[in-house]
Amino acid sequence: MPEPLFRTPKGTHDVLPDDQMYMTYIKKAVRHRARQAGYKRIDPPMFEYRGVFERGIGEHTDIVEKELFIVTGKQNADDGKQMALRPELTAGICRSYIENAMQQLPQPVELYAIGPCFRYDRPQKGRYRQFHQLDLEVIGLKDPSLDAQLIHVVTNILSDLCILNRLTLQINNIGTAENRAAFTEALKDYFIGKERNLPPDDLKRLQTNPLRLLDSKEEDTQILLRNAPVLSQYVSDESRQYHDTLLEYLTELGITFVENPGLVRGLDYYNQTVFEYWDASSGAQNAIGGGGRYDGLIELLGGKDTPGVGFAGGMERIIWHMKEAGVKVPNKDQVDVFVAQLGPEAKKKCLSLVSALRERGVHTVGALGEASLKSQMRLADKFEAKFTLLLGKLEVKESTIILRDMKAGKQKQIGIDEAIPQIIEALGKENLDTYVLKDHMKETAED
Ligand code: HAM
Repeated sequence: MPEPLFRTPKGTHDVLPDDQMYMTYIKKAVRHRARQAGYKRIDPPMFEYRGVFERGIGEHTDIVEKELFIVTGKQNADDGKQMALRPELTAGICRSYIENAMQQLPQPVELYAIGPCFRYDRPQKGRYRQFHQLDLEVIGLKDPSLDAQLIHVVTNILSDLCILNRLTLQINNIGTAENRAAFTEALKDYFIGKERNLPPDDLKRLQTNPLRLLDSKEEDTQILLRNAPVLSQYVSDESRQYHDTLLEYLTELGITFVENPGLVRGLDYYNQTVFEYWDASSGAQNAIGGGGRYDGLIELLGGKDTPGVGFAGGMERIIWHMKEAGVKVPNKDQVDVFVAQLGPEAKKKCLSLVSALRERGVHTVGALGEASLKSQMRLADKFEAKFTLLLGKLEVKESTIILRDMKAGKQKQIGIDEAIPQIIEALGKENLDTYVLKDHMKETAED
């Protein structure tokens, strides 16, 4: 085959039909569980003023400092209002909460979103420049029962997708913003005189965002950290109490978790509860999702002091787990009937036959070219059609048609008017892909 002139940019991929089946299935699970719990759908734009992310996620996080896709409006424009493709959904949803005065709605406001996000990261397994997130946010009230309920909804989704048993829920409480500030100071003090032993990147982190040192992959840093103060020493009694209550609620809901005092998360907006779902066999590198409380975020974005808690899962990583676990998702794109024909008269008749079958909800593919019957039958096999209808010159003359059951390898000649009723009976009425306008409108609104 010739080398294609263009390929997808590095770190991106086409979501091909085989993966759409998984995507649709995941979206269905999310919609179902979200609706059960009172969440409503929101779609923030794919790009925002970059300040939304810089302020929200934090200027010195990897996501903003290294991975933001900057968008300038017009070609060659360099005005001050630069935008960025969204690296996640939380900051945009909080911007929308403020902009649309959602504090006037009954609280908490529960929102969910599904869609592509963009991070200019170094691509590797499970890490892409365009990926898809499913996201749930609960904004406007603070109570450990809300954190517990959110985690319960997520757990149910992962269980519906048959991958919960491959994951562990890691959970921690990182204290209030004040607790973190005190810890940050202590960490800075500890490193005084030790700067020479830090690799350059970590030295920079010490100055800009010392908490990020805890995630460092550098061995020298990790050795130094062994005697450093630990965050849990700075977590207030109030936060500890909050955490204990949350863990009690999770236990009440039958949710198993692993307490992980080292879990801090890579976004600045978190306080108190943070959690991630890790691959039970390989660990943190492949978290399928994570979240936590962000009580200061809305105020940071210019709104009133408003608490929030949320979660986002990576759909590509979820799909990977579903495939590894051998989860079968329904294929709604199957071909039910292949219509083969020979001769101009047959071809004309086939047009309305194909159309009538489709109208009744039968997935129908018609070879309306000039190929031989034999090669049309081969095509029917390749499409994995369940039935083939064959119309040749003779059949047209006799007003008959040949119905072939592809799996059984048997065929019979029937009256042409019999074709549709017999196909419908063989497929089963419940398997027909019919939609009435009401359903159609519902689907469009949700898509
Ligand atoms: P996050 O941990 O940055 O959190 O991302 C959530 C999930 O998105 C990750 O666990 C991973 O599955 C997926 N993900 C992130 N980056 C990539 C990538 N480059 N390629 C493939 N998958 C990726 C957040 O985004 C927060 N907004 C979560 C949240 C919601 N917190 C509160 N509400």
